[in-house]
Amino acid sequence: MAAVKVNGKAVEAPYGSLLSDILPRGSTDTPCGGHGRCGKCRVTAHGALSAPSPEELVHLTPGELAAGVRLACCARIEGGCTVTANAAGQSRVQMDGELPKLRLNPGFTGYGAAVDVGTTTLAACLYNGDGTRLARAGGPNPQQAWGADVISRVGAALSGGGRDLARSVREGIGELLHRMSSEAGIGPEQIEEVVITGNTAMLYLLTETGPECLARAPFTAGRLFGEELPAAGLRLPCVHAKAYLTRCISAFVGGDITSALLYSGICGGPKTRMLIDVGTNGETALWHRGRLTCCSTAAGPAFEGAGLSMGMPGQTGAVDHVLVKDGGIFPHVLGEGTPLGICGSGVVDALACLLELNILDESGFLEDDPAIIAPPVSLTQRDVRMVQLAKSAVSAGIRTLMHRAGVTCREIEELVVAGGFGSYLNVESAGKIGLLPMELVPKVKVLGNGALSGAAMLLLDRDMRGCSESLAARAETADLSADEYFMEAYTEGMLF
Ligand code: FES
Repeated sequence: MAAVKVNGKAVEAPYGSLLSDILPRGSTDTPCGGHGRCGKCRVTAHGALSAPSPEELVHLTPGELAAGVRLACCARIEGGCTVTANAAGQSRVQMDGELPKLRLNPGFTGYGAAVDVGTTTLAACLYNGDGTRLARAGGPNPQQAWGADVISRVGAALSGGGRDLARSVREGIGELLHRMSSEAGIGPEQIEEVVITGNTAMLYLLTETGPECLARAPFTAGRLFGEELPAAGLRLPCVHAKAYLTRCISAFVGGDITSALLYSGICGGPKTRMLIDVGTNGETALWHRGRLTCCSTAAGPAFEGAGLSMGMPGQTGAVDHVLVKDGGIFPHVLGEGTPLGICGSGVVDALACLLELNILDESGFLEDDPAIIAPPVSLTQRDVRMVQLAKSAVSAGIRTLMHRAGVTCREIEELVVAGGFGSYLNVESAGKIGLLPMELVPKVKVLGNGALSGAAMLLLDRDMRGCSESLAARAETADLSADEYFMEAYTEGMLF
């Protein structure tokens, strides 16, 4: 065993182990799940360590290597060493919005909680029996240690990591429940009911349900939730509570969309309305003449700030907005400090600005490669290609649902944009780069974390659960894999 100091604390580590094996979970960002692809798991380490790996030579400059910067998922311990890892930054967490007037019918008299398990963040709120919100809490989803996107985590679960993935997210939720309880001056065991929402994969991983069906064709989810479990079975600190998991629509349209649809109120009336939630998937739902049709397209991690050369989550140091002023690019940096990277909303703005300045052409060719956005933050030609794939997938999903229902942009009365990315997105820029149809931009309504707000509604009025379950059961999910219109729209959508 080698003697190692981690953040000043002495530990013993087997020779040959990776630095990431000995660091406390959450010490670094790990968007690629430890595969050496993202270059984000940087730590400072000195002592007997392996020579820089090929991946480290790609991601780290000679100056950084000389200063002891290493990638935790690549550097191996060969003897005594010291490691310093700064805690991964806190992402912006989108919280719930104002709830509509409800007919209160909770299943508890004391305290209840609603929780949104997002792929990137966790968010929760605590209520008392008369519908007063007592506390809110949010934080990163600790499962990010297994990768930024759903696919990496499902892969990790299928390779035997299911128990650890479940434990990690349960601990994350438990921490939020503890924080909210202490703010409200109660113990978490006094929480009698908790409603948990999330996409289908997140609910599978939380409940340690084997996710094989989410990874293989025909991608038919065997468990769609809309069910109540003892919270103790999920190892949550509200040991006496019932946990209701919101109903999913299909393998790729989850309970978070059912909750957001409930909160948005788009279903049920005579108006034709659409809801979209863009993250690593672009989930879209269209309500038209009493029918709900949904689809999900793979957008990849670009809009979550991962996978790009200088991509990062929306946290301190991220360029989150960019505009053109006096013929030049003006960036805004979260926290107003030194720019460290660029998050999803910043990327969309930056591409719109580069188009306006003719640095980027319609085909996606970048005149200056890399294009400097806020020194040292830049976008490369490869980054642009990645965003092109993501935005064309999302816009093709929107157009295909409209085509199937025979609906034009003019007939759509409202486009509700849900989710964290949508909340910070400049919709004008989204229209300019073709992520959203330009004709729908004036009809956009930003919903915020509709999934959490919807979960709160299901917490405070149990009667709504039946409505949302039957809406989800009646919804149709469009299979885009063999849809010719989708393929055409996808190819066309590649252009800016
Ligand atoms: S390079 Fe180490 S987590 Fe991505």
